[in-house]
Amino acid sequence: MKILVVGSGGREHALAWKLAESPEVDRIFCAPGNAGTEEIGENVSIPATELSKLVRFAKENRIGLTVIGPDDALAGGIVDLFEAEGLRIFGPNQKAAQLEASKIFAKELMSAEKIPTAEARTFSSSKEALDYCSEVMPPVVIKADGLALGKGVIIAHARENARQVVRSMMEEHVFGEAGRRIIIEECLRGSECSVHALVSGEAFRMLATARDHKRALDGDEGPNTGGMGAVSPADNWNTEREREFDDSIMQPLLHGLTRSGLMFRGLLFPGLMVTSSGLRVLEFNCRFGDPETQAILPRLKSDLVSLLMATIEGRLEDATIEFDSRTAVTVILASGGYPRKYDAGKPIEGLENAASLPEVRIFHAGTKRQDGKIVTSGGRVLAITALGESVTEARERAYAAIRQIHFEGCHFRRDIALRLAHA
Ligand SMILES: Nc1ncnc2c1ncn2[C@@H]1O[C@H](COP(=O)(O)OP(=O)(O)O)[C@@H](O)[C@H]1O
Ligand SMILES: [Mg+2]
Repeated sequence: MKILVVGSGGREHALAWKLAESPEVDRIFCAPGNAGTEEIGENVSIPATELSKLVRFAKENRIGLTVIGPDDALAGGIVDLFEAEGLRIFGPNQKAAQLEASKIFAKELMSAEKIPTAEARTFSSSKEALDYCSEVMPPVVIKADGLALGKGVIIAHARENARQVVRSMMEEHVFGEAGRRIIIEECLRGSECSVHALVSGEAFRMLATARDHKRALDGDEGPNTGGMGAVSPADNWNTEREREFDDSIMQPLLHGLTRSGLMFRGLLFPGLMVTSSGLRVLEFNCRFGDPETQAILPRLKSDLVSLLMATIEGRLEDATIEFDSRTAVTVILASGGYPRKYDAGKPIEGLENAASLPEVRIFHAGTKRQDGKIVTSGGRVLAITALGESVTEARERAYAAIRQIHFEGCHFRRDIALRLAHA
C-alpha cells in the first residue's frame, strides 16, 4: 500500500517513520515533508493547506491511506474531501474536528455532558467581556475560540491585563476570525497531562500518556512555544486516573458527539489538568500532539498502519496495542530566537553521529536539504528522542546525542523530564 502523510513537522516525521515500519507499506509520501521524511520516503511539494491539490495527488497516485498531521487541514474539511472521492483517510471530518477548532463548541458539549472542565463564560461582545473582566477575580484564562497557532490562550494575572487581552482579541483582531468570540475561564492549578486515544464512534483505545514542556526556557520560564520537549509515560497518571478518564470524560464525550449526530474517527488528544479534586479537560485536540508523538511512537510496539485502519473501519475492539515499558524523553532543538524571530538556512552538523548512539531517534522538524546539505528552515528544527529503563537513562541518552549536533544559534531546554528523574 502507498501512504501519504500530510504536514512537515517532527510529528509527521515520526508518523512517517513508524508507518514505514509496517510490512503493508510499499511507498510513503510526505506533503510537504522535511529533510527527515525525505530519507524514508518521497517529499511532495504540496503545502498542507492546499486541500484540493492533496486530493488530486492521492487520487492520481492511488494512495491507500492518508494520515493528517496538522489541525487546520482537519478544520478545513480535508477528510470530507477525501471521503467524497472514496479515498481512505485517517482523521475526523470537519464537523467532528470542531471539537478542536472551536473551544466554545467543545465547552458547550462538555457542559451538556457534565464533563469536568474549568468554569467558563463565553463572549461575542467585547463590551460584555470587558465588563466581566472588571468584576471577576484574577487570575483568569482568556481563550480565543478558534485555531490560533497555539497562541490564543493567555493567563491574565490582573484585571487591567485581562482587559488588554480582550481588547487585542476582540477589537484589534490579533487572531482574526479566531478571536471574534472568546472564553474567559477559571484558572486551574495542578499538573498537565497529554492523553492520546484512537477513537471510532463510541469505541476508543488509549495510546500512551505524555507530558509536554511548553515554555521556551529552563524552569518553565520564558514565552510559550509549540513545545520544547516531552516525556512518555506521564508521571501524574495511574490506573485510577485512567478509570476516572474513561468514566467522566471519554464515555460522556463520545456519547455526546453521537447524540449531536457527529461521528468522530481519528486521534483524540485531550489536554488535561490533574487537580486536587480530579481531572479537568483544558481542551480537545483532534490529531497527534507535537512533540508528544515523537515520544509516544518510539514506544509503540504494534503496527501503526493496522491500528489506523482498525480505527477507520470501526474494528478497534480487536486491535492489539502494545507499548515498550521504557521511558522516552524527547528534546527539541530550536533556532536561535524561537519562538520569536529567528534565522534559517544554518547548516546542521553531526546528525549521523547522533543517530548512531544507542536507543536514539532523530526526528526532523524545520529542516530542508539545500545543495546536498541539511539546513535549518523553521523555529523547531529537530526532536531528539531516547529510550531508557529510567527517566535518568533516557535523559542521558538524549542529551548525549544532542552534544553531537551543531548548528548556529541552536537552543534547547536542559531540564526536559528533569523533575521526573528526581521524583
Ligand atoms: N483553565 C486553565 N487553567 C490554567 N491553565 C490553563 C487553563 N487553560 C489553559 N491553560 C494553559 O494554557 C495552555 C494552552 O491552553 P489550551 O487550552 O491547551 O489551548 P491551545 O493548546 O490551543 O493553546 C495549556 O497547556 C495550559 O498550560
Ligand atoms: Mg494545548
